[in-house]
Amino acid sequence: MAQVIMIIQNPTLKDLVSVNLNTYLGAQIIPRNTAAEAIALMEILPSVDLIITDGKVAKEDTAKDIWKACKKNKLDTGMVVLGECPEDIRKDVQWVENALDWEKVVDSASRVLGITLDDLKKKLRPEYAVVPLDYFYSLPSSPCDVFIRIKGPENEYQFLKRIHAGESFDQTVLERYKSQGLLNLYIPKEMRDNFAVFLSNILIQKLEEGLVKDQEDYTIIGQTFDLARMEIVAQGLNRTTIQLADTVISSISETAVRSKTMGPVLQKILGSKTGFLYQNAQLTTMVAYHILKGLGKDSEELKIKIAYAAFFCDVALLEREDLAQFDSYQEFDQAVSENKIKKSDFEVLKNHPLEGAVFIRKNPEAPIDVDLIIRQHHGDPKGSGFSHEHYDEILEVSRIFILAESFARRVLSYRKGEGNPRPVILDMREKFSQVKSMAPLVVALEKSLKNSQES
Ligand SMILES: [Fe+2]
Repeated sequence: MAQVIMIIQNPTLKDLVSVNLNTYLGAQIIPRNTAAEAIALMEILPSVDLIITDGKVAKEDTAKDIWKACKKNKLDTGMVVLGECPEDIRKDVQWVENALDWEKVVDSASRVLGITLDDLKKKLRPEYAVVPLDYFYSLPSSPCDVFIRIKGPENEYQFLKRIHAGESFDQTVLERYKSQGLLNLYIPKEMRDNFAVFLSNILIQKLEEGLVKDQEDYTIIGQTFDLARMEIVAQGLNRTTIQLADTVISSISETAVRSKTMGPVLQKILGSKTGFLYQNAQLTTMVAYHILKGLGKDSEELKIKIAYAAFFCDVALLEREDLAQFDSYQEFDQAVSENKIKKSDFEVLKNHPLEGAVFIRKNPEAPIDVDLIIRQHHGDPKGSGFSHEHYDEILEVSRIFILAESFARRVLSYRKGEGNPRPVILDMREKFSQVKSMAPLVVALEKSLKNSQES
């Protein structure tokens, strides 16, 4: 459903436009009163499709202020401006000079949203779902029509069919789109579930066909990982999404079990075309298995708990990969001071352990205690952000997870920078050895890593 922010002062006009957009375009209308309110909302909802606004509200240059905020945040959100419209922004917006002409407002909105007048007349609600282009590399053909989205001459979006349902396509086509900066393709919204099942089946089949042998297979696990998380957020937990998650979790676990020594596997994972979240989960699982081994506690039961937690711990940050990378409030504050992140993101970051725990409780098949590990995975027993003072109050398996994730993050951050300035295990010693309940875990990890190098 398209989301539309609306700032219209005239109550009658506001109702007319709302009811039409909702009835004919199936749009969700979110009313706001000022530019500041709209901009604040867009910070937490950057996926808004359209803003319909009066040019001015009292003394505020509403349209211009919103336009500036969109530019600053590199958002190409469509805008329809009513009444007064500053000359320098007209090229980027749909301008309806006569603010009372509600039909023209609806018409302009429909064009920005990519819905034609004919569609309106037929009261259709054609909507498209976005699919990352990378997913198509795994497909021999598409189960539905596939479109690209382009901006038309009057700033409206147009959807052009590029792949027909059932048609096999050449991967060079994907490369061409990519080289033109297209990161996403579009499919009819009603086909979204079908598409996800089709892609899931292909990915699962690939994963189940054989062992992880080379870099490409890590890419497939990584892709399935991302797909599973996206589908879980979109559809919630159901039979399909749970099966998909279980397959990924098994693959992560098997890969970790097979990785006797860390180095070569690490190189392959870091060299694969996968995102931070998968790499973090895979490395965390591998490191945690080493700790379990060092402690002499590497039971299947504990291992599967760890792999489950690694998959689900940051489920509340699915669309905030940037936030998922922080390992402490200091890192967050630093990013705020460098304007890389907004201070208002603090609550999202702080609450994600608890939210993840609440979410996983809905999965009846999750191993016991996984919700606790997720709640405690940044150290706070209640799941409220990062804490270093309560390690003694949390489960041992949670502490193992914390050390493993800390190690994994440090490896990933070194890789992003200049490479390892020194062995990561020394950082872990420095960070945790003074903590009574953590020190034996660091020793166990060191022991296991050493043994694996010798064997
Ligand atoms: Fe987390």
